[in-house]
Amino acid sequence: MDRQMIIGMHFGNGYGSQPGAWRMPGVDPTGYTSFDNQVRYAQAAERGKFQFLFVPDFPALKGDIETEAPQITIDPMMTLAAVARGTERIGMVATGSTTFNEPYNLARQFKALDLMSHGRAGWNAVPTSDPAIAANYGRDVPRRAEKYQRLHESIQIVQALWGSWEQDAWVHDASSGRFADPAKIRPINLRGQYVGSSGPLPLPPSEQGQPVIFQAGGGDQGMEVAGRYASGVIGAVYTIEDARAQRTALRNAAERAGRDPDEIKFFPGLMTTIAPDRRAGLDRRIAVSGHTFPQRVGYLGQMLGLRLDANWLDEPLSQALLATARPWPQDPRSAHALKIAREGWSLRDVLAHGVIDYHPVIAGPADEAADHMQAWFEAGAADGFWISPDVYEDGIDTFVDGVVPILQERGLFHRDYAGTTLRDHLDAPSQYGLDPRIAD
Ligand SMILES: Cc1cc2nc3c(=O)[nH]c(=O)nc-3n(C[C@H](O)[C@H](O)[C@H](O)COP(=O)(O)O)c2cc1C
Repeated sequence: MDRQMIIGMHFGNGYGSQPGAWRMPGVDPTGYTSFDNQVRYAQAAERGKFQFLFVPDFPALKGDIETEAPQITIDPMMTLAAVARGTERIGMVATGSTTFNEPYNLARQFKALDLMSHGRAGWNAVPTSDPAIAANYGRDVPRRAEKYQRLHESIQIVQALWGSWEQDAWVHDASSGRFADPAKIRPINLRGQYVGSSGPLPLPPSEQGQPVIFQAGGGDQGMEVAGRYASGVIGAVYTIEDARAQRTALRNAAERAGRDPDEIKFFPGLMTTIAPDRRAGLDRRIAVSGHTFPQRVGYLGQMLGLRLDANWLDEPLSQALLATARPWPQDPRSAHALKIAREGWSLRDVLAHGVIDYHPVIAGPADEAADHMQAWFEAGAADGFWISPDVYEDGIDTFVDGVVPILQERGLFHRDYAGTTLRDHLDAPSQYGLDPRIAD
């Protein structure tokens, strides 16, 4: 196989993806506001030659703040600005919603990050569906059609602003006194139904021209957006079959938009707890998030078609119960949950396997993670993955020192960065301004 996988890392709240990560031994409990820690974690991922960091964003206070850290970084662009100054090669993709931001703000901030990082920035362009976020902007969530129309318009305006300087417009010749060539810097004058901008943006091209577009898709409309503009798509998908279907659908959407399907890369998530063996992996997950298990037993029961009681956490399911268990068709994780339950683990251990987490979970040795990634990659279910370590403080290093060398030995992952920009790392074609295939 000549293709190699691309690896990104979920870059969240400064602790890790598990709810109790903030208070694990060795973790700085004030890490939520520590840019030093964030830079250190980005450097750990860069040591592992990861191609990018992925920063989600939900600008609202969510979850149980009494016991849990918010899941999101204090500010995606500020965090990545710090990371840009503390790293050299790793790409950095931040989420920026088009529903409540104006294209000019998005264009300016992402281009500035792209310049600051010497061509390593990406924009995960999403609409917002959450009423709590809308309320923080003093608004209601718009209708779906409006959200997606505004998303299309925003991406096109942002890209046009990014291209509003011709690539050689910035002369900066001190001897002649000529800073820039104004004939090569033009307004864009775009007005859509919901957003518009005159431009130009007062920023020259970056080393990769302009930031790369990502999408984190929901439904058919998200798929169309991704098909037209995205070089990378961040997925939440639980089975290899679903991943393959989503990747195929994305590739088809890119083709419909007149693009080569290889221009769009699909990255399903993988949550990792890398440990010497399965038992140690499960124990670590119990230590970090076991306090949430009693509330999860009811839902696990629903997935298995059984009534389960939180007092049974230390027992395996009886043969009689297992005989009547049926995977719940509404949740694609159910069949896997039942398979694990049938292996005879206690309910606590079943939950420690992460059967109700947002992505597939590896709790165990490094080769299990490598095998999972290889199987999905070779089945055409993924172009790579976004890895979500349980606890950043040591969970990135265990992945980098355990899983990465196995993937490299199998020829599945690069040994070093070949290029310097995110566009290079993704093997994305060069683009400056609007994609002429889409502009029409
Ligand atoms: C893996 C994944 C990550 C996402 N990350 C974000 C995010 O960080 N911020 C956000 O506002 N929406 C995020 N979304 C939500 C999508 O952008 C989209 O709004 C959602 O899937 C609902 O789509 P709909 O509005 O078409 O129903 C994410 C979706 C997926 C699948």
